Amino acid sequence: MQADKSTAPVLEAVGLTKKYDDGRTALDHISFSVRSREIYVMLGGNGAGKTTTINLFLNLIEPTDGEARIMGCVAHYEPLQAKKHVSFVSENVMLYGNFTALQNLDFFARLGGMTGCSLNDYRDALLRVGLSEDAHRKKLREFSKGMRQKCGIAIAILKNAPAVLLDEPTSGLDPKAGYEFIGLLRSLRDEGKAILMSTHDIFRARELADTIAILDQGKIVFEQPASRLQEQDLEQLYIRHMAGGDIAQAEP
Ligand SMILES: Nc1ncnc2c1ncn2[C@@H]1O[C@H](COP(=O)(O)OP(=O)(O)O)[C@@H](O)[C@H]1O
Ligand SMILES: [Mg+2]
Repeated sequence: MQADKSTAPVLEAVGLTKKYDDGRTALDHISFSVRSREIYVMLGGNGAGKTTTINLFLNLIEPTDGEARIMGCVAHYEPLQAKKHVSFVSENVMLYGNFTALQNLDFFARLGGMTGCSLNDYRDALLRVGLSEDAHRKKLREFSKGMRQKCGIAIAILKNAPAVLLDEPTSGLDPKAGYEFIGLLRSLRDEGKAILMSTHDIFRARELADTIAILDQGKIVFEQPASRLQEQDLEQLYIRHMAGGDIAQAEP
């Protein structure tokens, strides 16, 4: 399924720039947009600026210049409005190990302002992500990474926000969990969500993305619909851009 390019972007970075206090420019005037029914994958090595980009959308940090917009709301001007429109799926940042899967869903649904959810809604969401009944009352600390990721997706399903952000969601997943996770992200995309995720994994990027961007040293050095790319091409491109970065850095 392809994003409808005629619709307004759900997520939009406009000249987004971040200089940290030490003077390092982590993100240098990047611009991109993600529409409904689109999985936009930021591919890049360590330090490329992926987490910084996602943290700017979540208003965890403020940009030095430019804007991160969610449904037209600028994240650092209208943080509460912007946050209503976005789910952040992270297995380690937000889930509580001492809570069961059901308790985590209940806690985060309420935190997100959803007071009308019933136990059945929670069960349905957990079943939909492939967590069977026997896992629902288990404490999260007993869950594998793959199961925690699924729990994160269940929370996103309940919140039903138009935008979903994920930072390196497939790293550390075994092949089966990775495969299942990809299926879940696709089903969210097919429901109309705009999905922005980061990865350093070319294979996952190629498999999942509708649009692939390569980020290097805070700049988007490449962006294209994934349908136009063969796997080998992407590998070549990635290596070339990474090599370009190293050469640029080595110059006086
Ligand atoms: N809190 C911070 N203070 C200073 N520099 C940071 C901070 N967070 C990230 N950086 C730097 O910003 C650059 C981009 O980091 P990051 O966005 O975490 O990259 P990625 O997620 O692609 O690995 C790196 O050079 C990193 O060292
Ligand atoms: Mg990162």
